[in-house]
Amino acid sequence: TQYQIAVVVGSLRRESFNRKLATAVVKLAPPDFSFTQVRIDDLPLYNQDDDANQADPVKRLKSEIAGSSGVLFVTAEYNRSIPGVLKNAIDNASRPYGQSAWAGKPAGILGVSVGAVGTAVAQQHLRNTLAYLDMPTLGEPEAFIQATDGLFDKAGNIGEGSKAFLQGWMDKYVAWVKRHAG
Ligand code: FNR
Repeated sequence: TQYQIAVVVGSLRRESFNRKLATAVVKLAPPDFSFTQVRIDDLPLYNQDDDANQADPVKRLKSEIAGSSGVLFVTAEYNRSIPGVLKNAIDNASRPYGQSAWAGKPAGILGVSVGAVGTAVAQQHLRNTLAYLDMPTLGEPEAFIQATDGLFDKAGNIGEGSKAFLQGWMDKYVAWVKRHAG
């Protein structure tokens, strides 16, 4: 079986640490897993009036999520919660009522911030939302990562100091997806 993971990055910043983390960490996955970063920067602001006539980027996101074996969220923390762009993407793909793309998809959460909190608060908020969306979400290990100098090596791979920890995280995530993928 080949497992296809949709990666949702909760930052639109060009030099986003979270996007770099999302790009680097997937190299720690086994060959039967492939990962695609989905686009969320062109989604409209969610408006319930549009439920019967969703915009093309919303339909695209929903089909990418629906076609995936699981989802990997790699998110920044903004003001002690998840960035609005991420919540907007989640809301858009959760509707119309009863036609959520997220339901049942196994999920993992990673995040890096410049502060020592390592996106811990944002991740707890995200867990709340994913629970409501009926997404089985890997609980342990938690990964609260601070953007330090050695986090990535010169080639953009995970640096030596974090490699063993993130390899352990990826191994658990892979097993989690295999257990919960439909
Ligand atoms: C932040 N940052 C931040 N960091 C954190 O650890 N907790 C927080 O609550 C916040 N709040 C916050 C709000 C806003 C509006 C901005 C722009 C930034 C700092 C944040 O960790 C830093 O900008 C990271 O670089 C964001 O992740 P990306 O964009 O590098 O992936």
